[in-house]
Amino acid sequence: MHTVSHIDQSATRPTPVAASLKDASVKFGTFTAIEYLTLDIERGSFYTILGPSGCGKSTLLRLISDLIPCASGDLTVLGKTTEEARLAREFAFVFQDAALLPWRTALQNVELPLEMGRKRGVNIPVSDKTPTELLDLVGLKGRENALPHELSGGMRQRVAIARALVCKPKLLLMDEPFGALDEITRDHLNLQLLRIWEETGVTILFVTHSIPEAVFLGQKVLMLQAHPGRLREVVDIDLPYPREIKIRDTQEFTKYTARLRELLETC
Ligand SMILES: Nc1ncnc2c1ncn2[C@@H]1O[C@H](COP(=O)(O)OP(=O)(O)O)[C@@H](O)[C@H]1O
Ligand SMILES: [Mg+2]
Repeated sequence: MHTVSHIDQSATRPTPVAASLKDASVKFGTFTAIEYLTLDIERGSFYTILGPSGCGKSTLLRLISDLIPCASGDLTVLGKTTEEARLAREFAFVFQDAALLPWRTALQNVELPLEMGRKRGVNIPVSDKTPTELLDLVGLKGRENALPHELSGGMRQRVAIARALVCKPKLLLMDEPFGALDEITRDHLNLQLLRIWEETGVTILFVTHSIPEAVFLGQKVLMLQAHPGRLREVVDIDLPYPREIKIRDTQEFTKYTARLRELLETC
């Protein structure tokens, strides 16, 4: 047996938890949007979030990203307060709308967070990959100089993902990022996102209203219920990675989607 080391290594060891919530609640005036949410998101994991409309999925991501405060309970992100984590660029957000600056090229949009950091004179983390390499990673090699209006919806969303990765976030918060895309584009981006996740080791929290998408991507599916927003169940998806589209035709996959559909009906 090893003897217990008296040297505290916690400062050098990466925090094993990307986000930790303990009895966290969110209120908008007298309305309770999220109640008593207790959850640990392990670092490097891929969680997908499902639940009926209005159950608090977006609110949960906004809570973690320091956009709205906790009314009660505790919340830490990478062992820090949400404000500290935001200032340290520990996380990045990708929304349904890519929200690119229309007068800047794809590359210039990806470079924007770095420029903003430099302008403010703050030390921000920078990805090991250059903005050009990140565009390559999301499959946009050769389109660096295209303006947003010259790109398809799926391509714009890929630029948004590359931009989110430029400050080397440890946690990627994605709110229905592919919700507005056609099915084939969505499949393609799902595969690409899994590859990026495996390559970067980033922790991903991904909101979707598509049950197959939630099962295809996630190691775990968080099912939220409404009125008030609560965690209903965490469903482990024991399907091996790398996952291919054809996994969706397997019985095991269908078992998960059927189970989640049943669960969703009672939320
Ligand atoms: N800024 C706000 N002010 C008041 N109510 C809000 C606000 N944001 C969200 N809500 C309410 O909180 C609940 C959860 O919203 P949201 O997290 O957006 O749901 P969804 O699961 O569809 O993403 C909804 O009932 C919504 O109307
Ligand atoms: Mg939402």
